[in-house]
Amino acid sequence: MSTNKIQFHDLHPSNDDFAADVINGLSQRPAAIPPKYFYDAKGSKLFDAITQLPEYYPTRTEIGILSANTAEIAEHVGTGSLIVEPGGGSCAKVHILLEGLKPRAYVPMDISKDHLQLAAEELAVAFPWLEIHAAATDFTRNIQLPPSTPEGTLVAFFPGSSIGNFDQDGAVDFLTSVAELVGPGGYLLIGVDLKKDKVILEAAYDDAGGITAEFNLNLLANINRELGGNFDLNAWRHKALYSEQIGRIEMHLISQKNQTVMINKTSFSFAQGESIHTENSYKYTTEEFITLAKRAGFQSDALWVDANKLFSVHLFRAQSLSK
Ligand code: TRP
Repeated sequence: MSTNKIQFHDLHPSNDDFAADVINGLSQRPAAIPPKYFYDAKGSKLFDAITQLPEYYPTRTEIGILSANTAEIAEHVGTGSLIVEPGGGSCAKVHILLEGLKPRAYVPMDISKDHLQLAAEELAVAFPWLEIHAAATDFTRNIQLPPSTPEGTLVAFFPGSSIGNFDQDGAVDFLTSVAELVGPGGYLLIGVDLKKDKVILEAAYDDAGGITAEFNLNLLANINRELGGNFDLNAWRHKALYSEQIGRIEMHLISQKNQTVMINKTSFSFAQGESIHTENSYKYTTEEFITLAKRAGFQSDALWVDANKLFSVHLFRAQSLSK
């Protein structure tokens, strides 16, 4: 396997962070756990399965938009760039861009270390001319480029509507850190799910085959294994609901009975019907998102939407700080 072009950097967060975040989150009411802990090896596999579901339109719609417009994207950002992908664990979507954009290097960053390493090795085989500098890191805490990264125009690639998993202020903070990362004149190519009918949205986050439910419940299995928890996975149920007022999908785990859960030596009680809020997915009109990105110092450069108006891909350019 030609792994000679891969530089791998392990900045993976410790189980101490995981424990602190979970204990803190389960002590709040309503209880909540940060979604980044979905992505253990099994969670990452389940997530990849979600992206293939008939109900889950975002992935295939975004891939369609990117494939149809690669040449146009290349006209904007040029060749020889450095594509940086926070959360690019499976390196799947970047494939579409590589032939058209001919970047010098690809820098995926992901919290799921093994998943990232495997994907980077596969990518190196498929694109032997590409330098890969992979960083196993929690990009919400540490979004620096690995020290081995070469010079070049930076293009941050943030597909999959992952930006929707932050609330608005969190999204502005994150995009501000991306603007600093790419520097003035650098680019951001970002996929953003659009506001639409509640029925379509809720089906996308609660598929008939139960894969999204399994993904959500796997968070509890991850806590049991890594933190010595004793969650009974049969005593919790997946729930997804769209709030039209807030403009977001909410994912919850609902307690099916009154119960006490131990994590290591700390106990947490839940009443029947009580929820652990595990993730949000905010939806934006194109105008709303351009306004949000502006708060982070990004100027709209181009915008693509599919014919059914399901999904948007924005290209932004970081402004110079003096503006
Ligand atoms: N960010 C995408 C979204 O909100 C993908 C995603 C993240 C997701 N977590 C998820 C999809 C949980 C389904 C379930 O749609």
